[in-house]
Amino acid sequence: MSFVYKLCLVLVFGVFCEAELRKEAYMTVPSLIKAAGYPVEKHRVTTPDGYVLQMHRIPAGRRSARRTGDLNAKGKKAILIIHGLLGGSSDFVIMGPERSLSYLLADAGYDVWLGNLRGTVYSTHTNLTKNDPKFWDFSFHEHGKYDLPAMIDRVLNITGLDKIMLVGYSMGTTSSFIMFSQRPEYNDKLIAFVALAPAVYMDNMKLIANLALNTLDIVNVMRARGMTSLQPQFLQGLISTLCNLKQPETDLCTNFIYTLVGEDFEQNDLEMVPIYLYRVQPASWRALEHYGKIAISGVFTTFSGGLSGPVKPYNLTNVKVPVTLLYGENDQLTEKSQIMRLADQLKSTGVLEEVRPGCSWPKFNHLDFVFAKDVGKIFNKPLIKLIDQLYNKYYTA
Ligand SMILES: *[C@@H]1O[C@H](CO)[C@@H](O)[C@H](O)[C@H]1NC(C)=O
Ligand SMILES: *[C@@H]1O[C@H](CO)[C@@H](O)[C@H](O)[C@H]1NC(C)=O
Ligand SMILES: *[C@@H]1O[C@H](CO)[C@@H](O)[C@H](O)[C@H]1NC(C)=O
Repeated sequence: MSFVYKLCLVLVFGVFCEAELRKEAYMTVPSLIKAAGYPVEKHRVTTPDGYVLQMHRIPAGRRSARRTGDLNAKGKKAILIIHGLLGGSSDFVIMGPERSLSYLLADAGYDVWLGNLRGTVYSTHTNLTKNDPKFWDFSFHEHGKYDLPAMIDRVLNITGLDKIMLVGYSMGTTSSFIMFSQRPEYNDKLIAFVALAPAVYMDNMKLIANLALNTLDIVNVMRARGMTSLQPQFLQGLISTLCNLKQPETDLCTNFIYTLVGEDFEQNDLEMVPIYLYRVQPASWRALEHYGKIAISGVFTTFSGGLSGPVKPYNLTNVKVPVTLLYGENDQLTEKSQIMRLADQLKSTGVLEEVRPGCSWPKFNHLDFVFAKDVGKIFNKPLIKLIDQLYNKYYTA
């Protein structure tokens, strides 16, 4: 598999063949953080159903680490960041110290914790290997019900704090809303929740979900071929064989991707594309089916009973912490009208802090939240101001 993949990268990116691929593409997240000059810690948590998740912590900024040598971050404001589908902790460091949210937060005085949900390269299971289809028997339902609570508890335990801030991106927000619904006791452990590109209602994806899951039955075809999950190599192979990412104006495949996430060629950092494509994480088929069920039913429903099973809405009145929703004006995946629907619901229960565009750039798309060329300046720095404000407003130590 890895041989095929190397070949594919050579095919698409020409100059970016394996030997020349920048080391950021394959370094581990802790090595990336260390190489950037920041202190880093690894923490392993085990969920009640046996998944072992590795979290990455940046307890201090570059300058403060050098000046005081105090890395244990006692009494600092802790923040937990949860990645999206096909992502992992690397999403929040890969753009480097000038642009990535984790480094900017650490330099602003935060104790930064990066989660890794089950399914990523930073997850294993006590009894199952990744070749076992049972390993992949989960969606963001389990991320929210088990993984997030386990990670939050670990942050509280290590820091000794009684509350932390939570930031989620895309599927990280889906999991978070499921946690609030299924494990409402976790409201008391959080100061506020900042949802980037929240994925709760997906009516805009109804047609494509129906086509992929019902008409073409893609997931079951893949399962029947022995693919236990959506593997990065498969996606990378597909994209690199079919797409010409360097000529987006005329390339059908690139335009299809833009139809999904929103077109923003100006903020597309071409040098970074092979790196983040290389770092794509696996996804469970169930997660795709679960999103499909939500899109097709138009309800934020559980997956119990499967794709065609009964619709059972998650109880969003269980959300008790202040929620800020940030959307991209040109995000076609988690689209504004759907986020407004969620906003209305949260407003009716009195927990909506704010809903607004995450960025003034009108073409800000789904991927720009993490990968925009200017993500540090146009998005992350203002985001940190917002997080500071929420801390000052809602946290009393
Ligand atoms: C793992 O296997 C052991 C021994 O069979 C069993 O007792 C335990 O419950 C299993 N753990 C999980 C999480 O399935
Ligand atoms: C962290 O967990 C350990 C082991 O369960 C416990 O002894 C300790 O008191 C906890 N620390 C805090 C601050 O909760
Ligand atoms: C949802 O949760 C609230 C409490 O937060 C409860 O009052 C309400 O009955 C629940 N609704 C459903 C449909 O379970």
